[in-house]
Amino acid sequence: MGRMTADFKHDFKERRKRCCAHLPPGSIVLLPAGPEVVRTADQHYPYHQDNDFYYLTGFVEPEALAILLPDEQQLILFNRPRDPAKELWDGLRSGQDGAKRDHGADHAYSISELSVKLAELLAQRRRIYLPLLRSPQLVAQVLEILGGLQAKSRKQENPFEGLFDIAPILAEMRVIKEANEINCMRNAAEISARAHADAMRACRPGMMEYELAAVLKHRFYSEGCQNVAYPPIVGGGDNACVLHYVNNNQPLRDGDLVLIDAGGEFNHYAADITRTFPVNGRFTPEQKALYELVLAAQQAGIDAVAPGQPFIAVQEAIVNVFITGFIDFGWLPKDVGDQQVEAFCKKIYPHSSGHWLGLDVHDMGAYWHHGESRALVPGMVLTVEPGLYIPHGTTEVPEEWWGMGIRIEDDILVTEQGNDNLSQDAPKTVVDIEAVMKKK
Ligand code: GLY
Ligand code: MN
Ligand code: MN
Repeated sequence: MGRMTADFKHDFKERRKRCCAHLPPGSIVLLPAGPEVVRTADQHYPYHQDNDFYYLTGFVEPEALAILLPDEQQLILFNRPRDPAKELWDGLRSGQDGAKRDHGADHAYSISELSVKLAELLAQRRRIYLPLLRSPQLVAQVLEILGGLQAKSRKQENPFEGLFDIAPILAEMRVIKEANEINCMRNAAEISARAHADAMRACRPGMMEYELAAVLKHRFYSEGCQNVAYPPIVGGGDNACVLHYVNNNQPLRDGDLVLIDAGGEFNHYAADITRTFPVNGRFTPEQKALYELVLAAQQAGIDAVAPGQPFIAVQEAIVNVFITGFIDFGWLPKDVGDQQVEAFCKKIYPHSSGHWLGLDVHDMGAYWHHGESRALVPGMVLTVEPGLYIPHGTTEVPEEWWGMGIRIEDDILVTEQGNDNLSQDAPKTVVDIEAVMKKK
């Protein structure tokens, strides 16, 4: 939990300023830290700060509440006090001095003082912004305080206007990444790309799926990732067709493909990369043909990422390549109708082109504005991840293609000129994958 660099501190402060600029006079923002979740008795699940809270404060400890006062341009932090007896077991706490010194809090109080001080802070505020749908406990606490205040303030000069959701405002800020965020994401993607290359080099028939997961995690953690961005997916054969397969407990068989979807989290920012390759290092003709179709679709999707393009253009580009391929393979007739195409695509490509990426792997931010697919803007990061899934028994496709799940996923930054593939170092062409796997 090292000290932040000066640059990061500046970023958090600027974000608070920009957030406040969205709010009318008389507003107050309440943002709670992520909860600690008990696993059993005195054990907790590994703690992860709430990403909106982190985005505005950089503060990573639990049991905290940040308050922004836009009129006063102030940050007030309620957090845990220093406590040598607790720190002996769990490590240093920032305390109130640390909150002010390291996190730019104008005032800091012990979290135990919250209920008394919150009533003072809420008095005379016209609008209270908080995560309305995600923090029922805080909402209940605020409503109780408001009930008490109302009894005393019938002649309040600033009439109370209500509780408002802060989440959409932060989501819209988070969808456009700043320079330091892009650096973290590039680092996460580059480490994760090396992890995928490691897994290709390590793979041998007879290994267990979890052994490859271990190879990936070794690279993430040894290069400074503090977490996995999501549980790694390592699926051989039909398991690759389970979109969020996480059991990873089956042997990898000679002649099968294996799909790996895994990314590390570096300095809170996620990578999300998928590669698919032959367990024995050599693609069969069918595997190569299907792989190259997914690769062509992915390239078309990446090429559609440019400022001004709608998000949906990525999916349209992918589907166009797929349909041509399905007709070439003889899976669909040349004169195929729209309905048949749609049903067939849904069957073997049942997901969209990807999602925003950032602090969360499925990051915040709307995909549609006023019923229209949102236009891409420099600073956005999205995944492009087409896949085809043909487990045994897929009667819509001839039997020689059964047992394959292929997805290829990269992390794409929208730039002024077009795009930049942050995860391009993970081997991806048939030639590159076979070459990497040969060098064992
Ligand atoms: N790793 C989850 C996803 O690709 O969306
Ligand atoms: Mn993924
Ligand atoms: Mn993804």
